Amino acid sequence: MLAQLKETTAWIQERVAEIPEIAIILGTGLGDLTTSIEETIAFSYEEIPHFPLSTVEGHRGKLIFGKLGEKKVMVLQGRFHYYEGYDMKQVTYPIRVMQLLGIKYLFVSNAAGGMNRSFQVGDIMLIEDHINLFPEHPLRGKHDPRLGLRFPDMSEAYSLELRHVALEIAKENNIKLQTGVYVGTQGPSFETPAEYNYLRIMGGDTVGMSTVPEVIVAVDAQIKVLAFSVVTDLAIAGRIEKVTHAEVMEAAKLAQANLTFLIKEVITRVSVSR
Ligand code: HPA
Repeated sequence: MLAQLKETTAWIQERVAEIPEIAIILGTGLGDLTTSIEETIAFSYEEIPHFPLSTVEGHRGKLIFGKLGEKKVMVLQGRFHYYEGYDMKQVTYPIRVMQLLGIKYLFVSNAAGGMNRSFQVGDIMLIEDHINLFPEHPLRGKHDPRLGLRFPDMSEAYSLELRHVALEIAKENNIKLQTGVYVGTQGPSFETPAEYNYLRIMGGDTVGMSTVPEVIVAVDAQIKVLAFSVVTDLAIAGRIEKVTHAEVMEAAKLAQANLTFLIKEVITRVSVSR
């Protein structure tokens, strides 16, 4: 795998003059962010050697390099979900590419069901920790010591330093920011009422079908992670609250403005060396 990763990395380095130290995976609530990126160079996933092909979903993924304010960023528009049929090495391949490129910070967002009783549709939750319920571990298999540890520590999977910065920005700007634990499941079906109940009792505040594999590999790669859930539906005490599509869209729109602002602000405050 390392040989392939090196080819992917070299291909990117030949085409991008200035490699950033910041990467963003655009999940739900961050789609707008691309409009703020300047001096962009974009590649469709198909043209990047060894990159997983986003054929399953139909729409094309793009890897974008550019500037967000003063900072250089690398943006993944379109991610690989386990439920689409990718194996974990494919799901997390972009993270290893980030590692070889020298990425130091990773920002991620996702759509999630809210299980905490105090959450509302449209809330943004700062992910403080996660519970990995995926049936396959992204680091399972032959270990390559050049990439990371056999048994990586996960006691601070979500950077405390970045979380503090995000909370501070939210407070300064009156942005409602929930905090909690994200449960990552394989999907693609949503949870049954009994499952939501079980995940809540287990300690989860939100549940979704992404993020956890990428974060585990990023932590192994010594990349600092900051991640957010956008609460798109509520699943509280086994009672799945029905909301109208219009309400969800409205809530997501509000979340999008705030989440985009939050991430942009955190990025202006992190220090990079190139
Ligand atoms: N469960 C799992 N994934 C999700 C949910 C949910 O309730 N909402 C959005 N993504």
